Amino acid sequence: MSKLNSRYQVIYDTDPGVDDAMALYYALAHPDIDVVGVTTTFGNVSVKQAAENALYLLAIAGRGHIPVTQGVAAPLGKPGENPPAHIHGADGLGNLAQRQAHALRVDPRSSAQFIVDMARQQPAEITVVAVGPLGNLALALEIEPQLPQLLRAVVIMGGTVLEPGNVSPVAEANIWNDPHAADRVFCAGFALTMVGLDVTHQVILPVTLFKQLAAHHRHIATDTLHHAVSFYANFYSDLYPHVAVIHGCFGHDVLAFVALTDPQLFVTETGALRVATDGLAQGQTMLKRKSIPYPQGGWEVGPATVCMQVQAAACRQKIEEVLTRDWLTT
Ligand code: BDR
Ligand code: CA
Repeated sequence: MSKLNSRYQVIYDTDPGVDDAMALYYALAHPDIDVVGVTTTFGNVSVKQAAENALYLLAIAGRGHIPVTQGVAAPLGKPGENPPAHIHGADGLGNLAQRQAHALRVDPRSSAQFIVDMARQQPAEITVVAVGPLGNLALALEIEPQLPQLLRAVVIMGGTVLEPGNVSPVAEANIWNDPHAADRVFCAGFALTMVGLDVTHQVILPVTLFKQLAAHHRHIATDTLHHAVSFYANFYSDLYPHVAVIHGCFGHDVLAFVALTDPQLFVTETGALRVATDGLAQGQTMLKRKSIPYPQGGWEVGPATVCMQVQAAACRQKIEEVLTRDWLTT
């Protein structure tokens, strides 16, 4: 592996969103990850708010040099829905009382074009970590059909195989929000890892961890994250008694980065991965788990790697260790 390749150069495709913010800060704090761009999508908030939040989170963390683009505003193949303000806050960051002024602006390119430009500039070096609906990657494929060969890897937070869904009995929110885009991405031939509810529902992060991080860093970035996580944890604690016990939340998006850098903490399966795009099962991710030749077609797509089990305690420890590092300089 070349020196360049021993680090992960990541485009972070996101809809911030509280766990998205947590994941962004994890990536910025991680010694082996270079965030080379942040692309945004609708999802937890409108895409305009997502881009604003990405700029704000970078600005207060002293990382204003990282480009941010505004991406898709709606699903490719169905009407959009109202963002879940009760989970992430109307502003996506737990309804912040105020925001510090900053001068950052979005890069004028679309998120899809940015992904393509970066992939063409550095073939097989860039990893896309995508933690929202997958419209930006689907559009990038339209611009550049060779994208699967031009990217090093794609890691997504989304979907579920055995664990029940979180927006329907079978659908996870990111895939539900744009099932057509997700199916295109899964069929495209990327070296793709799916980090879904099968593992993210095993890793519960207590609000006290973020309180400790805020006390440790004494910085607006970790104060903001603590505020946002406190709001987000109320939603999860109201819904799940075992989460309420520790007043915590699921880390969802941060697990995509942990799976990238510490894959040994996960048990995976490989197989063709598809999405139900219509009907009652809309948004369901379906993994072909057996290598038998089924009589029904549609499963001839390249295999994805799907995280099925996780060492939850080790993940929590890793998240704490990385976010405690001395990564905030301003
Ligand atoms: C996913 O949906 C969003 O609410 C979270 O940010 C995460 O990406 C979890 O289902
Ligand atoms: Ca997200």
